[in-house]
Amino acid sequence: MAAERIYREVQDYYAKELKTREDLKTNACITLTKPVPTFIKEALQCVHEEVSAKFYGCGLVVPECVEDCLILDLGSGSGRDCYMLSKLIGENGHVTGIDITESQVEVAKKHIDYHMNKFGYQKPNVNFIRGAIEKLDEAGLKSESFDIVISNCVVNLSPDKRAVLREVYRVLKVGGEMYFTDVYASHDLPEVSRKHRVLWGECLGGALWWKDLYKIAQEVGFQPPRLVTASRITIGNKELESVVGECQFVSATFRLFKIPKDFSIQRCEVIYTGGITGHEKELEFDVNYKFKQGGVVDVDEDMAAILQKSRFSGKFLIRPVEQKKTTPTGCCPGKPKEKIINPFRLVEEMEVKAPVQSSVGCCGSKGCC
Ligand SMILES: C[S@@+](CC[C@H](N)C(=O)[O-])C[C@H]1O[C@@H](n2cnc3c(N)ncnc32)[C@H](O)[C@@H]1O
Repeated sequence: MAAERIYREVQDYYAKELKTREDLKTNACITLTKPVPTFIKEALQCVHEEVSAKFYGCGLVVPECVEDCLILDLGSGSGRDCYMLSKLIGENGHVTGIDITESQVEVAKKHIDYHMNKFGYQKPNVNFIRGAIEKLDEAGLKSESFDIVISNCVVNLSPDKRAVLREVYRVLKVGGEMYFTDVYASHDLPEVSRKHRVLWGECLGGALWWKDLYKIAQEVGFQPPRLVTASRITIGNKELESVVGECQFVSATFRLFKIPKDFSIQRCEVIYTGGITGHEKELEFDVNYKFKQGGVVDVDEDMAAILQKSRFSGKFLIRPVEQKKTTPTGCCPGKPKEKIINPFRLVEEMEVKAPVQSSVGCCGSKGCC
């Protein structure tokens, strides 16, 4: 579909067709998530009900270590994630939400004072702007001005995913991170799915083949994506299922880091020293790395670079691994444990460990919280 037509149809979909979550026609924006930690639940409970009713995200987008950070939310919708993060970052942090649909931005703006008062802040730490996520420059967003960019079920709706990631890379500070949940397809989707107005609006028709995320992210300069979690999407609509055929979908959360280009990377041994709110004893950084406070972990070159050059650097003791120690020991000497990068494989492994009971959210028939 031509970009202008996609922009128009997406705005129509989110302004006219969907009034609340109850109007969604598939389960794509309603996926199972892991249990929500108490400090996040408390922040979500503070969000105004009109904002929550219009939440169409497909996961939980809460990066760790966010106090005082400057955050940008791509496709912020009615602002649920912005307001949740407004509480978690504290009064000295700031969240900017950008969305292309005017009525979504209006709802979000309407509740700025409500949340400022709820959190006891002297001035708001949130603002919302109308604009396209492929053109952050036109929205006045400056290079290297954000610590973190988040997004919840939006990049799939863009007609130009490469432009989105290029712009995110530009606006992130060096060491910054994009932490985002989105819908991914098991194959490159055929034209018939891509051209389907409802499938696109419901976040399926524009879903990237998961392998393309790895390709595009690295092309624009990010480190290889780090997979955080994934859950299977069941469409729950016979007519639309027949259009997508064999193709499978997952909602997956990835983190992308912008590391200095000239930084020479090497394997390291790291110790998490604790001190991250909500993750004091253990930090599950992604599906491949879990750090217990005080425990020594060997990390690969990419992870070592992230821990040294991002906002996590003050939370770890880090030293290069001596050459002689790089040969792993254990049951298969010489063969490092294979990393999980495929969200579909992760979902399959999780389903073997804990068979899926139902395809609805964890707190009621619709929604993850
Ligand atoms: C599935 S909703 C998710 C909204 C929000 N992140 C949430 O979790 O409730 C997608 C949102 O992305 C916005 N959107 C879609 N394409 C966009 C684009 N190219 N630029 C900016 N916003 C866009 C839509 O207007 C809509 O509000």
